[in-house]
Amino acid sequence: MEKVKVGIIGAGGIVQFAYLPAYQKMEEAEVVAISDVNETKLKEVAKKFDVPRFYTNYQDLLKEEEIEAVNICTPNFLHAEQAIASLKAGKHVLCEKPVAINVPEAERILEEVERSGKKFMVGFCHRFGPPSRSLRKFIDRGELGEIYYAKASYLRRRGIPGLGGWFTTKKLSGGGPLIDVGVHILDLSLWFMGSPEPQLVVGSTYNKFKDQAVDGGWPPLLTRKGDKFTGTFDVEDLASAFIKFENGSTLFLEASWAGNSETGSSISLFGTKGGAKMSLAAGERFPGELTIYKEEDGDLVDIHPRLSTTDPYQDELSHFIRCIKEDKQPITKPEEILNVVKIIEAIYCSAEKGKAIELQV
Ligand SMILES: NC(=O)c1ccc[n+]([C@@H]2O[C@H](COP(=O)([O-])OP(=O)(O)OC[C@H]3O[C@@H](n4cnc5c(N)ncnc54)[C@H](O)[C@@H]3O)[C@@H](O)[C@H]2O)c1
Repeated sequence: MEKVKVGIIGAGGIVQFAYLPAYQKMEEAEVVAISDVNETKLKEVAKKFDVPRFYTNYQDLLKEEEIEAVNICTPNFLHAEQAIASLKAGKHVLCEKPVAINVPEAERILEEVERSGKKFMVGFCHRFGPPSRSLRKFIDRGELGEIYYAKASYLRRRGIPGLGGWFTTKKLSGGGPLIDVGVHILDLSLWFMGSPEPQLVVGSTYNKFKDQAVDGGWPPLLTRKGDKFTGTFDVEDLASAFIKFENGSTLFLEASWAGNSETGSSISLFGTKGGAKMSLAAGERFPGELTIYKEEDGDLVDIHPRLSTTDPYQDELSHFIRCIKEDKQPITKPEEILNVVKIIEAIYCSAEKGKAIELQV
């Protein structure tokens, strides 16, 4: 089988812990080059994972003609520039979440996707998590009926990533837990709800742990050698939001890196024929959980599907490579990608201005 040749931009936590191990198990693709501005890390990673070529300037990687697809795994503020450059160089792109740190950047990427005709997918790995896949089947069979309300929560009690580095610096990350982990549950909720058009957004953000912040251990400490930490922490540590959609449905969303609460991530759906609650998968240790709430012949019934133990990152990569080989539209559609960014931007805007934000469709 002819393997799709892949280049990776960024050699940090997600690449070392998820993507490179997953690519190594794949028969349909292989990583032939990698780029990182941190030369020490770059060389170590290339050696450890047998990546034949490595570059400190990602533009050099893009010059390689045999590379068909690029994975972008760099700090959020670089996604737009690198995605557009990759598309312009004729590559298919799998870009990490969040796709961009604001709406104009996301729009520029999607314009280039349209112009280039290349495949473009966002790394919403939780769409491939066992509970999400199972729940989506119940939804597609119509077993939940009309979903009119959802609650989505991604809470960490103490889990600030890379404290003092790019994750906690607004101009480099675009924000805190909302854009970092809240983006996953926002995307999933919208996907389950049938991608309704957002109409009104009310949001609040908090930064109560500024003076007692503790690093949460991501990216893994052994992947940080040579990374820059300036000590900045100018993003929120908790965000909450309420979103109304044109079809009348609503979503309550909350995301934290630090707070005096439980740690966990879940989505609840309320439908006319059934409801659901799922907890996100967390690697090999935890495949996630799913309960479906139904009424059958007057009895209230709880269904607990047995979930597979598949690796979401592996399945995400296989899907992306299959879309290239079979010329199919990736699972993350352009309008879905854009709505996630629009809602996040509106939540931050609402929090800053202290008022509800109406979104134009
Ligand atoms: N899907 C998921 O579950 C998931 C999990 C973690 C992180 N992420 C996303 O992946 C991306 C990277 O996160 P991470 O945790 O690996 O961060 P990280 O800080 O560990 O890695 C980022 C790497 O990018 C490198 N880099 C910076 N500028 C560069 C440039 N111009 N060219 C090439 N490399 C450059 C850095 O040196 C660093 O090694 C982020 O967008 C993050 O949101 C996704």
